[in-house]
Amino acid sequence: MIVVDNVVAGYRTPSGIVKAVDRVSLEVRDGEILGIAGESGCGKTTLLKLLYGNLADGLEILSGRVYWRDPDGRRTIECADFRKHWWEIFSYVPQGSMSALNPLMRIAPQMLDAGTGGTRPDMAARRARIAKTMAELDLPERTQRLYPHQLSGGMRQRVLIGLAAYVDPDVVLADEPTTALDVVVQRQILENLVRLQRARQNAIVIVSHDLGLHAQIADRVAVLYAGRLAEIGTADAVLHRPAHPYTQGLVDALPRLGDKRPRQGIDGRPPDFMAMPQGCRFRPRCNRAIEACAGVDPDPQPHQGDRTAACIRLAEATA
Ligand SMILES: Nc1ncnc2c1ncn2[C@@H]1O[C@H](COP(=O)(O)OP(=O)(O)O)[C@@H](O)[C@H]1O
Ligand SMILES: [Mg+2]
Repeated sequence: MIVVDNVVAGYRTPSGIVKAVDRVSLEVRDGEILGIAGESGCGKTTLLKLLYGNLADGLEILSGRVYWRDPDGRRTIECADFRKHWWEIFSYVPQGSMSALNPLMRIAPQMLDAGTGGTRPDMAARRARIAKTMAELDLPERTQRLYPHQLSGGMRQRVLIGLAAYVDPDVVLADEPTTALDVVVQRQILENLVRLQRARQNAIVIVSHDLGLHAQIADRVAVLYAGRLAEIGTADAVLHRPAHPYTQGLVDALPRLGDKRPRQGIDGRPPDFMAMPQGCRFRPRCNRAIEACAGVDPDPQPHQGDRTAACIRLAEATA
């Protein structure tokens, strides 16, 4: 549905171009939940912005192409035109629920405002859809008449998800939608998201540094490292049989209930975009690195049928 074809994208800054997304190819499939994972600063938000065409704040596509195509492939829309289809094809759940809602408006009129898209809206039908969405999100009916400051953080985040979903988009994109919330509320929100997605059959792209979240809801997971795609495949393959040493490190760092052994993290930090290591970008932190890794910055290769991963040592690692 959304195709990212060998894209280099980034920001022009006084000290040079930050290629926050570098030669990345992937697709978002109709009706799937795609998780985007990776440490902070790896380019997750930038990739998400490309997927819904938010080319603002200096973000530019330097080469390659991002486009949407309808399921029968007859109609395509280029990334630069995605914005015209916000609320219709693409809906976005912003990160900060307090700053995203208008503090001076009650919830219902804010929802009515969203996605009127130039057509004369059928107000009665819209009101009914809002009421239905609120119920699906386990929000009390009176929520509609409240102001944002009268809601808890979790309720506000659910309102934002409702806002994104009630207009019936083809894809809902969410950037760390639960990061600021406690785990119980997180779980509730994820369940809400999945329930709405099941009912409406839209795709979801969800960015999170939290692999546990992806394990709970994603069909497929893409792992970014330093602007490059390290690995992408089914959530089961990527999270339970990671092929890329970076994914392996992230998975090993996850806490497991009842297992008191110290977790094995990944030493060091992601590299600076202005001073990328030669060859594989993960090499300085990689426990499988060999001399040859300094000579290639590998592209993802098919691996075991259900994923692709960008590492020259894949075959040996899982042999
Ligand atoms: N508006 C911007 N201008 C310049 N650099 C930016 C901007 N936004 C993000 N970056 C840089 O792009 C890189 C990737 O950032 P981002 O996509 O936000 O990563 P993530 O979401 O994984 O934390 C970082 O090095 C970040 O500093
Ligand atoms: Mg981010």
